[in-house]
Formats: sequence, structure tokens, C-alpha cells
Amino acid sequence: MTPTPPPRPVDALSEAEAKAELARLAAEIAAFDRAYYEHDAPLVTDAEYDARRRRNAAIEARFPQLVRPDSPSRRLGAPAAGGFAKIRHLQPMLSLGNVFSASEFAEFLGRVRRFLGLPEAASLALMGEPKIDGLSVSLTYENGALTRGATRGDGLEGEDVTANLRTLAAIPARLAGPAPDLIEIRGEVFMTKADFLALNAAQEEAGQKIFANPRNAAAGSLRQLDAKITAGRKLSFFAYALGEASEAVAASHSAYLARLGAWGFLVNPLSRRLTDDEAPAFQAEMTEKRAGLAYDIDGVVYKIDDLAWQRRLGFAGRDPRWAIAWKFPAEQAETELVDIRIQVGRTGVLTPVAQLTPVNVGGVLVARASLHNEDEIARKDVRIGDTVLIQRAGDVIPQIVRVVLAKRPPDAQPFKFPEICPVCGSHAVRPPGEAARRCTGGLICPAQAVERLVHFCARPAFDIEGMGEKTISAFYADGLIAGPADIFRLPEREAEIAARDGWGKVSARNLVAAIAARRRIPLDRFIYALGIRRIGETTARLLARHYGDFSVWRREMEAASVIGSEARLALGSIDGIGPIIAEELADFFAEPRNRAVLDALASEITITPVENVSGGALAGKVVVFTGQLTTMTRAEAKARAEALGAKVTDTVSRRTDLVVLGEAAGAKARRARELGVRTLSEAEWQSLSGGSAA
Ligand code: IVH
Repeated sequence: MTPTPPPRPVDALSEAEAKAELARLAAEIAAFDRAYYEHDAPLVTDAEYDARRRRNAAIEARFPQLVRPDSPSRRLGAPAAGGFAKIRHLQPMLSLGNVFSASEFAEFLGRVRRFLGLPEAASLALMGEPKIDGLSVSLTYENGALTRGATRGDGLEGEDVTANLRTLAAIPARLAGPAPDLIEIRGEVFMTKADFLALNAAQEEAGQKIFANPRNAAAGSLRQLDAKITAGRKLSFFAYALGEASEAVAASHSAYLARLGAWGFLVNPLSRRLTDDEAPAFQAEMTEKRAGLAYDIDGVVYKIDDLAWQRRLGFAGRDPRWAIAWKFPAEQAETELVDIRIQVGRTGVLTPVAQLTPVNVGGVLVARASLHNEDEIARKDVRIGDTVLIQRAGDVIPQIVRVVLAKRPPDAQPFKFPEICPVCGSHAVRPPGEAARRCTGGLICPAQAVERLVHFCARPAFDIEGMGEKTISAFYADGLIAGPADIFRLPEREAEIAARDGWGKVSARNLVAAIAARRRIPLDRFIYALGIRRIGETTARLLARHYGDFSVWRREMEAASVIGSEARLALGSIDGIGPIIAEELADFFAEPRNRAVLDALASEITITPVENVSGGALAGKVVVFTGQLTTMTRAEAKARAEALGAKVTDTVSRRTDLVVLGEAAGAKARRARELGVRTLSEAEWQSLSGGSAA
């Protein structure tokens, strides 16, 4: 377990290091964005997220030539998710830069003054507005009537949630009083803390999803395909920004807010017009008021009040130059870590969760905190019995900042990360270079079973009509199926199925027929159906072609689960397989429960062999090239061999049929002779493979 080193100063990075880090940051931030925007389930705190965006920006500032086309600095949020029609915003919905201190705030003011050519000491009129922690939406009014409402989406295009937004009492269907023919009004949809707690209580009662925080609850409630569900949730709305408008609406932002009020919107009553030197006191006042507010805020947004100045200032990348979010510091508290429990996710990842003595952090009772993974526990040296500093950054799942070492009891226990899945008892493995440890018993692990069974029955796998997620979940919950082999025993329970809610004789008979139709399956589909990590359709096909037959494949895989075995080397040297996939297969076969699943399946179904590339002169032969070839490149030689149906590998083993010896062939030539494998000179190979000898 190697601890993650602290980030290197940007100034110390070489160009190559900067390039690699930008690639990593782009991927990481994209994953965080997807979790946040598409699943309403943030993976990291706002502070951690912001830190990564800032680092990305700092590296890009030093190496502008390395800015990636997919850089987070060029993107806003996540693309609109499926399910809703898309709406293109008439004016993009942008984001806000962040500051965390008075000095950073002063730098923002300095930039504004320099940009506008104002003297250093010029006073600036600002609007200070609490930064509501909800989700922003854009409302289009045409001739005073609400015609469209959209989420922010990627900033350019959002989801059409018009019907849902119409159910909010705080969103007027018609603007009261004169208004431009066309106007985009923007603001925040949010849920109060009390409504959030009540919703979660009701959700828990009904066995439904629990939301992590009011922001997620608001997003989840708004993004419902059925507007009736949104109507049943208590959502509110504060208006605070302008998009497109067919005519000028005001000369200042404060005057615009007044018009919003006159049109029938709620404008946050705490918003205040200030001069820049009053901002720090306003910030302090809001920090103090925060816990007592009915809704979550995570900072204050300061906007230049003069709209003409706003227009002149414009945007720098994704952020306006005329506004800034001054965020509150994260809320922290100390408490005792009483235990670490392991949760197993739907994909088999083991996640350690700290169990804490419940403590009040900024008005929320916190009893658990995520520890992410094994390395995180080691890096922070978290031990059971420790006092830890925990942080709720605004809203997301609480994080452990650090251990309070001064309070470590002498008997604090280091945590031994389990190597066995706590849910099903299968081996949990951690591939080199990965942070996550995973349960290998996917097919039988209750934490993963439904997901795996859905994959097993899906179109590219067994393709069993009628066995979709809903049916599988219900059958699994009621004990009709526990593993894949049980699917083929369902026909014995036809009557029982027919008697179930929502089923009948006909549908049960259809299901039984669909299952019967899939009792024969080609090896490649079968391998794919097992859902072994990294074994997609292409790799499954490669394996099926290479090994041909189920029993051969199974025997070889079991042999390959021994590290250093010949079967393992042979597997890893198949073109397109490599050591990483070989390891996944080996892990799968090392688990006896998985082998039991294969045996159970094999007794229910017929797995048909896959033809090797037929017709070629070398069909099915395993060929190794070694030494320096003089009449052709390695790539050419390999391509010709494969065209003739051979498989080209790197290692000479008993399974090798032919070794082609180039100049100065060494160890592999010797090994071939030892094993009695046939060898060919380059010229002999040329004549055998139909090329012209040199
Ligand atoms: S103004 C171009 N005002 O903060 C300026 N945003 O981090 C656009 N937010 O997406 C935003 N309260 O969801 C503005 N009073 C307020 C806000 C506010 C909350 C959110 C909004 C935006 C995010 C930017």
C-alpha cells in the first residue's frame, strides 16, 4: 500500500508530467461530474472537487499548449442525461468562480477594476446573494407565459423539465405585469431542510431511495419522468439571474431583482446591495445565519450590480468576470471512530465506511463517513478507537479529514482490510495499480447478484426474452433464483410463476419457452455472459476462438489461475489478451464458488464450440516468432499468420505448434528444441505461408 504523495507544485512539473496529470484530472473530474449531475450522487466534497479544478486550471495556465479538447475547463457539468428531451439555452448557463478568503475576494475585485480601467480605490456596487445549494434551471417566458423550463445540463443544453417545473408554486405560469416578449429567467430549485427530512422519512418508510442531502433530493425530485411525482415533492425556487431577453429589462442587477419580485417570483430576502468594502461583514453575517436558515447555503454570490459593466466584463472560460462565489469553509467536528464496516456495491467494490459516535456537524447528525478505499485508510492512518476530524463540505457524504493523533488511545487498532467479501465469502482481490478491492464472487454474491443476472440474461449474452431487471429483481427477492443455473430450473416452477402478481398462464408459458430456447449457447456468448471483469464481447470471442471448446477453456483457465503456470503464460500471450485480462480470468477461476456455478450451469445447458478461423492453412495453430526477421517486419509476419488462421503468441510452451526463427534467435529457440516443438527458418516460413523467400 503506497500512500498518495501530496501534489507536486505546478512550477516543478515537467511538460510530460503536466500532460499526464491533465489527462488524469480530465478523467477524474468527468467521473465526478457524471456522478453529480447524472446520478445526483457526488463522489467527493465540493472542496476536493474545486481543488482538482483549480489544479487543472493552474497546470493549463503554465502549459497552455497542453489544454485538452476534453479539458474540464472547456466543459460545464455533464451532458444532458437520457429520458428527457433536450433544450438548447438561448444564452449559455454558466458557472461561477470560487474564493474562500477575504484576500482571494480582494483579488477578484482587483481584476474587475483592472479590466474596467477603474482606479485601485474605486468603490464597486455589488449585490450579495446567499448561494443556495440546489440546482439551477432556466425558465423561458414568451409574451408573459411560461413556455419552457430546463435544467442546466452541460451549460449549453439542458433537460426539458417544463412539465415538472409547472408544478412548483413558486414558478408563475404567467408573469404579472409588463415584460419583454421573450425572456429567460434563471434561478435555483431547492428543498428546505425540513422538507428534505420529511421526504427521507417517507422514502425510508416506503423502502425507497434515501437522498444524501437536500440538493440531491431537489435534483432527484425535479428530474422525474412523471411530473405527478415532482408535484408531490415540496420544491421551492428563488430567481436570481437573467439569460436571453428581447429587450433591456433593467440597468442594474438590483433593479432586475426588483422586477423579478414584481413578476411574481421569490427573490431571496437576504440579498442585499452593498459596496465592496461591506462584503466581508456581509459574509460574516451570512456565515452566522447559515445554520438557522430553512435551506442549505454554501456561500455568498457577489455580483457587480451595474448590468452595463457586467456586459463589458463578460466571461473568462466558463466563469463570468462580474460575479464570484465566496464559499463558506467546510464544517468540521471531532468524534470517535468506533468501527470500520465494509459495504459491497453492485459492482463488487468493497468500500470501507467509518462508523462514528454520532456528532452534530453544522446542524446535521453524522454517524458515518466514507473512507473510500484501502489506501485512504493507510494514508490517513485511521485506526479503530481514534478520534477523527470529520467534515461536511456543504452537503456531500461526510469525509474524514485527519486523525487527531494527540487523542489516539494506546490500544487503537489498525484496520486489516478484508480479503474476503463480507457479504458472500468469496475472495476479494485488488488488481495491481487499482485502488479498489473487488469481490470475485459476482455470480453468487447477493450484493451483486441482480446486476450480474441482468447481464447474464441480456441480449449479447443469453438473450432471454422476459428476463429483464424487474423480473430478475423480483424473482431474486422471492428466492426463485439465486444464481444463473437457477434460471434453467425455472421451468419446473411454471405454475408458481403463473400465480404471481402481474403474471398469468400465458406469460409464464412464454418465459419458460424463452428459457428453453436458450439451453444451447455458443462458447463466446457464454463466456461473455459470466460478466467477468474486463471480458467484453470482443475478448470473449477471442477466448472462444482460441480455446474452441468449453471443457478446454475451463481446464486451461483453471490451470491459468496458478501464477507462473504455463497455462497462465499462454493465456497472457494471446494476442489481445495480455496480463491484466489474464489476471481477471485467473481471479475468477481461483474462486471455488465460481467454478461451482460453471458446473451447475454446464449440467443445465449445452455450450457449443466456436469454430476456429476456418479454411486457413494454419487454422488453429499456435505460432511464435523469435529473433530478428530480415525479409519482413514482425507485424507483417504476424498479420500473415493470423490471416491463415494461426494464433500468434510470445511464449514458447507445449501448446506452441510452430516457432519461426529469425537471426540470433536465443532462449525461445532453445526452449522449442527442449520441448520438441517444430521450428522453421525464416525462408521456410516464407514458403509455408506463401510469401516469396528472400
Ligand atoms: S448566478 C453566471 N446566483 O451556483 C452566473 N448562482 O456555482 C450564474 N447559485 O449554477 C449563477 N445561488 O446553481 C447565481 N444567487 C445565485 C446563486 C447561484 C446559487 C448556484 C447556481 C450556479 C452555481 C454556480
